[in-house]
Amino acid sequence: MAVAFLNGEFLPLEKARISPMDRGFLFGDGIYEVVPTLATRPVGLRGHLERLDNGLCALGIHNPKSADQWETLIAELLRKNSEELVSHSVGVYIQVSRGTVMQRAHGFPDNIPPTVFAFAFATAAPPLPDRSKVTPFSVITEQDRRWQRCNIKSTSLLGNVLHFQQSKIAGKQEVILYNDKEQITEASACNVFAVVQGHIVTPPLDHQILPGITRDIVIKSLSRDGIAVEERPLTLAELKGADEVWLTSSSKEVAPVTYVDDKPIANGEVGAVWQQAIESFNRYKFDL
Ligand SMILES: Cc1ncc(COP(=O)(O)O)c(C=O)c1O
Repeated sequence: MAVAFLNGEFLPLEKARISPMDRGFLFGDGIYEVVPTLATRPVGLRGHLERLDNGLCALGIHNPKSADQWETLIAELLRKNSEELVSHSVGVYIQVSRGTVMQRAHGFPDNIPPTVFAFAFATAAPPLPDRSKVTPFSVITEQDRRWQRCNIKSTSLLGNVLHFQQSKIAGKQEVILYNDKEQITEASACNVFAVVQGHIVTPPLDHQILPGITRDIVIKSLSRDGIAVEERPLTLAELKGADEVWLTSSSKEVAPVTYVDDKPIANGEVGAVWQQAIESFNRYKFDL
């Protein structure tokens, strides 16, 4: 039986209930995180907890737990789900909403306790670290229609959901988004990297993209191996003419993309730089 955590207690996931007056439900007024774990070892835990704290701070929601307390909660949740979740790869979803108040009003209510919810779920296995065996992605592109605060990992995900749905309808795995200057922002649930004329490029951190923890680990891992990543604007034309394109996220790690809008990237095969990147990532992912 899947076990969840809700407002201080562990309980069967199917029994977990919150009020429809919760601001997370009414306004999407909350922050979430997904912490990936492999054989119960979290990847990028410090980064995920820092981003959770930054997001809550940006929304003026009190972080109800210290980093140590979050870490204990994650470990406990994994332990309580160890029979249910035999998968090697497990994600821990954490959500903190502003809380419940019996009046619907836009302004923040004073002094209400946040709603804290967490559950664990099996995720797909990470990509095979072999360019001849890994399954590559095929994606579409669209103009980014989301809000101006994409750096906040808000539970208001409708913009991302609508973009993702277009890729699903097209029978693809993701959608890469670009702004009104035709600069790449990110994908609906991943960050984007490209190899352009031999240089690894990823869009810079700003309000247009989520500061991905996997993005950060990829940049730091490659740097440890002496390979630089340029954080600079990347145009749609550069992306389409790139030698390689990758997507990064906690659940997908570093996913190679070989088709964009039904056209091959370079020769349509997974590239040699991806091979280096996934090897660096796997070497250091538990340390960074
Ligand atoms: C919009 C968006 N960008 C990027 C990412 C990748 O972030 P991370 O590497 O921290 O999983 C995600 C992950 O959910 C996301 O939703």
